[in-house]
Amino acid sequence: MPRRWLGAKRIDLETCASTNDEAARLAAEGAVHGTVVTARRQTAGRGRGGHAWHSPDEDNLYMSAVLRPAVEPKHVPPITLAAGVAVHEAVNEYGVRASLKWPNDVLVGREKLAGILTEMGTRQGATDHVILGIGVNLNTHAFPEELHGLATSLSLLTGGDTVDRGRFVDSLLDHLEVWLDRFFDGGVEAISSPWTERATLAGRRLRAALDGASAVEGVATGLAADGSLLLRDDRGETHRIIAGDLTVLDDEGGDSQ
Ligand code: BTN
Repeated sequence: MPRRWLGAKRIDLETCASTNDEAARLAAEGAVHGTVVTARRQTAGRGRGGHAWHSPDEDNLYMSAVLRPAVEPKHVPPITLAAGVAVHEAVNEYGVRASLKWPNDVLVGREKLAGILTEMGTRQGATDHVILGIGVNLNTHAFPEELHGLATSLSLLTGGDTVDRGRFVDSLLDHLEVWLDRFFDGGVEAISSPWTERATLAGRRLRAALDGASAVEGVATGLAADGSLLLRDDRGETHRIIAGDLTVLDDEGGDSQ
């Protein structure tokens, strides 16, 4: 099916600080639902939790979409999960079997192939716009030392050939429109099983570091109706993790993020 709305308006930049910032600026100026910004390079690419996103000019994907869904602010976060399913499908076309780590990581083994950063602007308590930012390492072959063992790229995973960035973007936008529409129409219920099938956390023992100094440890049992992660602790009590960094505790060979 031809794409209908996502990327109907496209802005392709050589360089910018962060495509999320560019998209937010365009949203403030009234950009329409589905406006997509890409850049060849970011000078201040951002990840979740204030982390930097390595963004060299090496034919990777740095992309942000302006979305204006009729969704209350509290129901916005699972957009990240819908986007994860779309990224998973897009890389699967290259024969790469990734796994989704709640809420925003796309991993191959322990290494990160892609990440998603969803941000929101509200007006009088309602959602004005959502910025859906996606970074996919397509063609980086040498990561800085601090990312060794933590990051990988589609090219590295597929034998070193160059991944055509334009083709990848088109394919990702196709998948993304489908999964965003499913989420906008059917909420978390419409994406919960597809997300869980592509995730590897179910049944794993995790530590969720929450805001502040507290943490919860337990076994992941799945997604709640609002897209938060369910963790059952050793006393059998179930916790809903709305935001937090996860560490897998039962990995062979020790802890991993
Ligand atoms: C994460 O894994 O923490 C999220 C990474 C998101 C990176 C993308 S790249 C395009 C967009 N612009 C940014 O500054 N961040 C997102």
